[in-house]
Amino acid sequence: MTIRPRVVVTRRLPGPCEEEAARRFDAVLNPDDRPLSAAELAAAMREADGLLPTVTDRLTAEVIGAEPRRVRIIANFGVGFNNIDVAAARSAGLTVTNTPDVLTEDTADIAITLLLMVARRAGEGERHVRSGAWTGWRPTHMLGTRVSGKTLGLIGFGRIAKAVARRAHHGFGMHVVFADPYPPSAEEAKALGAEQRTTIEAVLREADMVSLHCPATPETRHLINAERLRLMKRGALLINTARGDVVDEAALADALAAGVIAGAALDVFEQEPAVTPALLAMENVVLLPHLGSATTETRVAMGMRAIENLSLCFAGQPVRDRVV
Ligand code: 8YV
Repeated sequence: MTIRPRVVVTRRLPGPCEEEAARRFDAVLNPDDRPLSAAELAAAMREADGLLPTVTDRLTAEVIGAEPRRVRIIANFGVGFNNIDVAAARSAGLTVTNTPDVLTEDTADIAITLLLMVARRAGEGERHVRSGAWTGWRPTHMLGTRVSGKTLGLIGFGRIAKAVARRAHHGFGMHVVFADPYPPSAEEAKALGAEQRTTIEAVLREADMVSLHCPATPETRHLINAERLRLMKRGALLINTARGDVVDEAALADALAAGVIAGAALDVFEQEPAVTPALLAMENVVLLPHLGSATTETRVAMGMRAIENLSLCFAGQPVRDRVV
């Protein structure tokens, strides 16, 4: 009998993924879906050949440094991998993979959902009806901001931002401007109705709505801070489906309270699942619980992609989605 590699899957995965993991590996599943502690993650590093973690698992240098380490690959469930200390993983000689592509369309859909919700006051309206406060239609009731034809600013212009641009331009006739250190070809940008700006500041000044699509790195931490919020138009709306760390959440709450910008719609937060309390009380803020990739189709595809990376690594073949 061949010995199957042991893989610790840190959270519950959609059924087909757990079944596939159990078929291919000696899979240690988490039927209770309880987040693992740092000590449990360190134990997994010592006892398993591979780890399949999620955004809720902080793989710090200390966890990665657990000795004697048996893990060879960390196959992250997610395209973002800021939960992993990549420098520590690199110096430990580990392979780290992510799950790009499969979540692009659904995450773009959530960015557009948030854009429409905050512009058309959908969360506020829903609360209004549910609370029984609605007294009936009137011409001046709950007026929002038109999205069609406005200027959308994208910070970062990778896969998800491009999918947002496609929806915004071809669906809503929006004019799209973006800033990215690695811009696409002029033809690709043109096909998406998008124009490059050389600085983030230029995008912030020009856009009616700004959507964030950059990775969370030490360089992008608090990229949107009090100073940059002040560059935005007073009626501007901020959308974040990237990572909470990219926005100084306290500065955002202050800016919204002071009317520096008009509204925000957030799917990600600095200290998930905690949210800056002031934001919870604001009607002009839409808050979703990190739902960007939360469709059955995408979550199954993410799990299968991580499993594929694990299998390739154990077979001694090049993994598909190496980030380290
Ligand atoms: C995931 C995400 O749900 O892929 C990402 O980067 O933010 C989400 O789609 C999350 O990372 C799961 O680990």
